[in-house]
Amino acid sequence: MRDRSATKTLREISVLKTIAKKRMDEVKENRAEQSSIVSTEAEQNSSTFRTYSKADAVKWLGIEYPTTFSRAFEGIKAKYPDRVFNRENNKNYAFTVSDLHFFADELDIPKFVRKENQECITIAFSNLKGGVGKTTTCVNVATGLAVSNNKRYRVGVIDLDPQGTASLFGVPNLSEDDFTVGDILQSNYELEQGDCEKQFISECFKETSIPNLKYLPAKVPDYFFESYAEQLQINDTLKNKADVYKIFKEKVIDAVKDEFDIILIDTPPSLNKTFYNAMYAADAVITPTKPEMLSFDATMKYMERFEDIYKMVAHAGHKGFYFLRMLAVDVDTSRALSKNNIGMTYFSMMKKYFRDRVISVPMKHSKAIQICADFFTTVYGMKPSEYPGSREQLTDAQNNMDDLVSEIELLCQQAWHPNEFEGL
Ligand SMILES: Nc1ncnc2c1ncn2[C@@H]1O[C@H](COP(=O)(O)OP(=O)(O)OP(=O)(O)O)[C@@H](O)[C@H]1O
Ligand SMILES: [Mg+2]
Repeated sequence: MRDRSATKTLREISVLKTIAKKRMDEVKENRAEQSSIVSTEAEQNSSTFRTYSKADAVKWLGIEYPTTFSRAFEGIKAKYPDRVFNRENNKNYAFTVSDLHFFADELDIPKFVRKENQECITIAFSNLKGGVGKTTTCVNVATGLAVSNNKRYRVGVIDLDPQGTASLFGVPNLSEDDFTVGDILQSNYELEQGDCEKQFISECFKETSIPNLKYLPAKVPDYFFESYAEQLQINDTLKNKADVYKIFKEKVIDAVKDEFDIILIDTPPSLNKTFYNAMYAADAVITPTKPEMLSFDATMKYMERFEDIYKMVAHAGHKGFYFLRMLAVDVDTSRALSKNNIGMTYFSMMKKYFRDRVISVPMKHSKAIQICADFFTTVYGMKPSEYPGSREQLTDAQNNMDDLVSEIELLCQQAWHPNEFEGL
């Protein structure tokens, strides 16, 4: 047998740690270089989000004739002579999402305004199986809800997975000093005298280059929430044992629920206290699954256990979900009619068994999802003309995501307007 020892293994692990740290430092340096040429908090936090041409603006604003927009735009420029609208090298306008919002406000295009009896809706993306697309769907749907139409929903993303993958999409330039959701949960902060806690928590949500989208990030030390919560139970600090599941809702969600219309939560693939906290705070759940044997099998096992999971949350006082849906992710629809298309076979099977509990739009397999992720962005973040793959690939992925976002938006609208949709 080859010689082995724990000391040798520790030495090897230490080498791996050094290489990983070097690599992370290089990435940080690159990002710092990029952010040194931008100024606002939103620009520093985020990767650059696409811009829009005049034709894109006309479409987004829902204006019938381009000339109507051109006339209105001339009026806006005359009214605000100091406001700068960027142009590309070819002199075409390159409007930002903020510009689109500005036009919509000037043109009195109504935005969604939640009434007092309409609560902010918190949607958890959950599955105990790893790698099924929870993060990918969470960040893409969040961006889609924020930008795919002109309703200007106020959207928040909370990264409850200490792996911090969702955070990379919203706050790729996260600094050492930024607070995370785990810091809030573990009360790892000190308020100055006179500071308001609600205000502090609100400010922990980082701005992005989309004015109506904010992120509350995660970092690896957020894992310590597990031992922190255990200590609370052991030390009998809590009035009731079940209070340990309420920390996230009561500390974070309740502090910011007036500032958002929809909050999406990315959850970790583990049945731990963080997961239960996400469930307690959720008003709705979407369970992504990849249509393949291993993911599907694990999702079925999760569905079987969900009753026990939910009983714990209900016992803590949860009010019930507005909707619970499964979502097929990474489905190969290119050979939809082929008998050997495993993805479509699984998707049909999901529909057959779970019927309308499955979101009718599958998220198609797409290279664009992966390429955009390499740039820390979603399929909405890139202009088709700047995309390194084929334009068609990106627009296909965007159209697919728009359909998925519309279905999720409808589910939220049904929760907000129960009478209007009764019997549909
Ligand atoms: N529609 C899609 N087309 C192509 N690739 C996809 C698609 N959806 C997800 N993926 C890829 O699948 C991989 C896993 O996705 P993701 O990280 O979102 O899963 P997850 O459930 O959040 O994983 P974890 O449990 O580790 O948090 C990623 O590499 C992602 O780019
Ligand atoms: Mg994830």
